[in-house]
Amino acid sequence: MTVEAFQKMTADLAWLPRGVMYSEMYLFSVTCQQQGVTAIAESGVANGMSTRLLRRVWDDVTSFEWNTNGLAPDLAKSIVMGDGRALVPEWVSARPRQRLGVFVDGPKGPPARPLREWCLEQPQVRVFAQHDYEMGSEGEDLHGNDPAFRRDVSSVLDKDIEPRQMTKRLDKRGIGIWINRQAFA
Ligand SMILES: C[S@@+](CC[C@H](N)C(=O)[O-])C[C@H]1O[C@@H](n2cnc3c(N)ncnc32)[C@H](O)[C@@H]1O
Repeated sequence: MTVEAFQKMTADLAWLPRGVMYSEMYLFSVTCQQQGVTAIAESGVANGMSTRLLRRVWDDVTSFEWNTNGLAPDLAKSIVMGDGRALVPEWVSARPRQRLGVFVDGPKGPPARPLREWCLEQPQVRVFAQHDYEMGSEGEDLHGNDPAFRRDVSSVLDKDIEPRQMTKRLDKRGIGIWINRQAFA
């Protein structure tokens, strides 16, 4: 999927506060495509920017959220309510023969680490992504704040996001992506 194709697929989706950047879901989706992923799970929905973007690219998206406060009303019926730390492993375990991508935007930080470590031990999880992750802190393969990616891709896909929001992206946090080497062992 080219940057231009992703831009066309998502052109009518306005950016929502607290949401992921367009370029971040592009990086996750294109990595999943390269790894032959067929189904996606995400944990952490809120306004649902990530959910809306993922649904444009993928037919099979399962979204988990544990808090009804702040959850977009139009998405509520299609979200699985509960703790992603338990529900993502259940979802992965129920799909032993598929190639899976997992995107986690809640929990964040250290509470997300056990889930990431567990996912990367499962051969069917080909790609794991963690949002608001500090670049380079725990050996990710790709990061949305990589200078070359920002120059070539974020500058195109995220250009219409309010500049004040973009300053958040001047720190080191963003989407971190791990490609599961275990899957190829
Ligand atoms: C920053 S928001 C998600 C934003 C969303 N991904 C987007 O792009 O618009 C984080 C969400 O994660 C949820 N969350 C935090 N920990 C969670 C958990 N263990 N299981 C499910 N949801 C969780 C919070 O309730 C919150 O709604």
